[in-house]
Amino acid sequence: MTVRDAAAPLRSLEARYYTDPAIFERERRGLLSRTWQFAGHESLVRNEGDYLAVEIAGESLFCVRGRDGVLRSFHNVCQHRAHPLLQGAGGVRAIVCPYHAWSYELDGAFRSGPNVASVPGFDASAIRLAPVRTETLHGFVFVNLDDNAAPMEAWYPGVREELAEYVPDIGVLEPLEWIEVPERCNWKVSVENYSECYHCTLNHPTFATGVVRPESYDIRASDRGYVLRHVSECQDLERMSYPVDLSKPHAGEYRSFFLWPAFSFQVYPGNLLNTYHWRPHDADTCTVWRGWFTPGGAESETVRRLARQDRETTVAEDLRLVESVGRGLKSPGYRPGPLVLDPAGGLNAENAIRTLQQWMREAVEGEGA
Ligand code: FES
Ligand SMILES: [Fe+2]
Repeated sequence: MTVRDAAAPLRSLEARYYTDPAIFERERRGLLSRTWQFAGHESLVRNEGDYLAVEIAGESLFCVRGRDGVLRSFHNVCQHRAHPLLQGAGGVRAIVCPYHAWSYELDGAFRSGPNVASVPGFDASAIRLAPVRTETLHGFVFVNLDDNAAPMEAWYPGVREELAEYVPDIGVLEPLEWIEVPERCNWKVSVENYSECYHCTLNHPTFATGVVRPESYDIRASDRGYVLRHVSECQDLERMSYPVDLSKPHAGEYRSFFLWPAFSFQVYPGNLLNTYHWRPHDADTCTVWRGWFTPGGAESETVRRLARQDRETTVAEDLRLVESVGRGLKSPGYRPGPLVLDPAGGLNAENAIRTLQQWMREAVEGEGA
């Protein structure tokens, strides 16, 4: 390597990472099946028999609350002849397959099936639904298709404690709004866009003048685990786009905890929790959800107004950007450009993109690229 090569700027990830269906398939079977993915909020599965079906990495799963109060998840497939078991969300006393009525206990054990007693050697105890790893983080339910995955605390050290500090009422929060945003771009384009604010001043005037103080904005990768923390001070109170009570600890700060690869807790000034999560569908499309929370899901004019403001400004602005980049990545005229890396960090740096792209590259190369 020449001296000149050593000093060459680090370039953004090659376009094929965002456009090639074979790379997406590698991510689906590898990364997305081996990391913690958000399944839903616990308020939907609070009582015995409550369930929630979700699709994660192309696999159908459901979470269900057992008679013992434990929340478990299973692959959504009958152990008879493979019919899916549950759809949507709701409550059941037992899990009954709609095909031939085999039924399962809420802990996944086989319960009964028409005429199975006539089957020589039928061993009910050997039939169980296939379990999926499940963890709850302050009421947010995550699943991991990898039986051997490290626990969330190892992936995201310290986040549980910090969230409790920044959002003291997180234990009683429930969703007030879910906003679903289908995006025509690769999920990584959307996650990268979320993970830099180099585009904020030009593209997000409301966020940059009415929520955060851009001069104080920074995004930092944690030294352990897979977390990107966004930090900022609150904008001057007279410029804020909603009222903020500064009497509580951390009320004057903005924080975001991005949990690789597809979820983020955001704490707006005033200790207001909202979330982002991404569901990758294929190389060219994903869906982003914005969640807004209040104690017990109670009506709040401020949070409703903030959710609408965010949807009409930041979310709409980002949607245009990421879909445009999705098209640009397919241009034969594109050659990945240098990332703007600044040791001092700050708003006009893409330091977190370097970290993200390193994780993205490792995820794909680890699957035999
Ligand atoms: S496939 Fe479920 S009972 Fe037959
Ligand atoms: Fe943005």
